[in-house]
Amino acid sequence: MTFVIFLCLHNNEFCFEKNKETMKVIKRPDPINEEVILRPDKTIMSKTNSKGIIEYANDYFVEISGYKESELIGQAHNVIRHPDMPKVIFKWLWQHLEAKKNIHALVKNLTKEGKYYWVITTFEVKSDTKGNVISFFARRKAPPIKAVKIIDDLYRKILEIEKTSGIEVSEKYLNGFLEEKNMTYNEYITEVCLPKEKTKNIGTLLSRFFFNEIELRFKS
Ligand SMILES: Cc1cc2nc3c(=O)[nH]c(=O)nc-3n(C[C@H](O)[C@H](O)[C@H](O)COP(=O)(O)O)c2cc1C
Repeated sequence: MTFVIFLCLHNNEFCFEKNKETMKVIKRPDPINEEVILRPDKTIMSKTNSKGIIEYANDYFVEISGYKESELIGQAHNVIRHPDMPKVIFKWLWQHLEAKKNIHALVKNLTKEGKYYWVITTFEVKSDTKGNVISFFARRKAPPIKAVKIIDDLYRKILEIEKTSGIEVSEKYLNGFLEEKNMTYNEYITEVCLPKEKTKNIGTLLSRFFFNEIELRFKS
């Protein structure tokens, strides 16, 4: 029988998983103000179980995070949590995942050395035939610089409110901010990362792609 305890002491930046056979303790580093620039053609991918424990990380995840693959597998995903990220974003993320809804989020992550990197992440829920959640996937890309600037400013404000008045108050602020725009967080992130002009272009590209496909099928 496996006996598992998860303990996360955020303020002390400790996060460890203990089970009967193994015990891993990963101490998150102190952040340093140095950015890791991502390659635009690469995807950072991870898969977790329904509790957010990393079961798979691709080579680019390993390279960027600075951890060994063996250090990442079996760890809680908050091993790369950056302290500049407001708690409310993860609260909403988990609410979506638990409701089996996919979501986009802009996330600042922490490497083993303490550097940071921004990612636009698509979170995807995988369920079995009975509808039970079996795993979550996260696919991350380098976001547009403009989007990072906008979201960084917003997160700074939210974090300050969170530190001063708590997550209930920061959540109300974020709700008000999005209500003013008449958008959900998901819609706002999509708009900021993929402005309308681009969406139009992507629509054009997609329709071109499909027309080419149809043409090819008729020709063959
Ligand atoms: C598939 C998946 C991928 C995740 N990716 C990240 C990530 O890249 N960075 C991050 O800080 N949290 C990520 N999380 C969220 C973490 O599980 C955790 O909620 C978050 O780091 C906040 O940790 P804390 O609540 O212990 O402070 C991911 C969760 C899942 C299910």
